[in-house]
Amino acid sequence: MSYATRMMSVTLSLQIITAFLFITATASSPPSGFTMDLIHRRTNSSSSRRSNTYDQLRSSPYADIFFQTSEYLMKLKIGTPPVEIDAVLDTGSEIIWTQCLPCLNCYKQRNPIFDPSKSSTYKEQLKCITPNPSCDYTLLYGDQSYSRGSLATETVTIQSTSGHSYVMPETVIGCSHNSSGFRTTASGIVGLSWKSLSLISQMGKNMLGAFSYCFSPEGTSKISFGSNAIVSGDGTVSTTMFTKKEKPGFYYLNLDAVSVGEARVETLGTPFHAVDGNILIDSGTTLTYLPASYCSLVRESVEKVVTAERVTFSEIDTLCYKTNTMDIFPVITMHFSGGADLVLDKNNTYMANGQAICLMIMCGPITPIAEKAVFGNRAQNNFLVGYDHSSLQVSFKPTDCGVTQDMPRDSTSAASFLQLNIKFVLFIVALSLIRL
Ligand SMILES: *[C@@H]1O[C@H](CO)[C@@H](O)[C@H](O)[C@H]1NC(C)=O
Ligand SMILES: *[C@@H]1O[C@H](CO)[C@@H](O)[C@H](O)[C@H]1NC(C)=O
Ligand SMILES: *[C@@H]1O[C@H](CO)[C@@H](O)[C@H](O)[C@H]1NC(C)=O
Repeated sequence: MSYATRMMSVTLSLQIITAFLFITATASSPPSGFTMDLIHRRTNSSSSRRSNTYDQLRSSPYADIFFQTSEYLMKLKIGTPPVEIDAVLDTGSEIIWTQCLPCLNCYKQRNPIFDPSKSSTYKEQLKCITPNPSCDYTLLYGDQSYSRGSLATETVTIQSTSGHSYVMPETVIGCSHNSSGFRTTASGIVGLSWKSLSLISQMGKNMLGAFSYCFSPEGTSKISFGSNAIVSGDGTVSTTMFTKKEKPGFYYLNLDAVSVGEARVETLGTPFHAVDGNILIDSGTTLTYLPASYCSLVRESVEKVVTAERVTFSEIDTLCYKTNTMDIFPVITMHFSGGADLVLDKNNTYMANGQAICLMIMCGPITPIAEKAVFGNRAQNNFLVGYDHSSLQVSFKPTDCGVTQDMPRDSTSAASFLQLNIKFVLFIVALSLIRL
């Protein structure tokens, strides 16, 4: 779920002038990088009436298997004593939020709901300008799902795969007391966008503004931060990341072309072409979406190659064939600017349901104001994907993400016997954003 998975209109009724001073002083070397396992959870789109994702909007009774959505969850501990939550990893949103007691209106989640009254470090005391007595936030989504609650500061603890704890005192989180429409069973969302309240931003300079993830379709997926997140070596390709003023925080890339087998379909000359980011990369959206006119060119190229009988499913607008072998389908390559050519596995771009095999590139947008082009998490399977805020690059390295590598080490920065992490965040904002 993310921006794209639904169009999200965020109204942060923040009217704050506040400064946070975070001082972390530790006697041992804090990690400058670490890695942790993710949980991959699939949900059938029709398994519940509740729908919250953009992908979901396309579902139909026939679409169950095709539109199984994939979400990758991260475990966090919040509060003192720490309570475990699991939250959806989302590069398309900013705030880290979890459902909290008292629950005016909560959806069903797997883990117990966080009770801030039992935590000694929970502080709902961000200074807000009157008349707003506390810093309430409201996240509204286009399908009418929403999360409403209070912004607070709380200790967030992240445990690395190697067992070390990374403690983030006074992290700004959203404590949701009224949320509805979410189909996930996770406790909330971890925003990894570019903006100041995202997890990566709040980790501070120590983590170099860098994270990477590796989504496996079957095995254990991973996320890394800081020096562990550097993506390099054989096969690594990089492309420039862009942000847009009107969609703050989202990561955009430039898609130059899509190759269908040997046929290269350029975006140049189509309305899809842009010089400053024409496609959003999002960990929270399952499928990949292209703007309708360009998308039809890509589909036509697939149709030229595949000779099997076409089948259609009511309500699903996608290209399907009656076959049980992926061998007859062309390989899809995404060409991002700067020579970042991603040769996608057929499992990343086609999906089989026993009766048919369908192209999993959707011709969007689902609503007129939704994002037109999204590079979703399924197409990113088995790539190590690195986001580096300092170089403004997104890097990809073909990787068998499910293969258990050596136990990742926590990296430590040599000079940090006593580490001071001082971070001022100054808001003078009345945020009223419409986000997709
Ligand atoms: C999804 O639906 C398929 C077919 O109906 C079923 O085999 C599968 O177990 C379901 N998966 C989940 C996670 O519910
Ligand atoms: C929760 O928020 C919704 C949407 O703003 C509102 O209509 C509803 O009354 C709220 N529910 C409670 C129990 O406060
Ligand atoms: C694609 O997925 C199928 C079913 O999970 C699996 O058997 C096959 O090995 C996968 N192909 C590749 C190239 O990973």
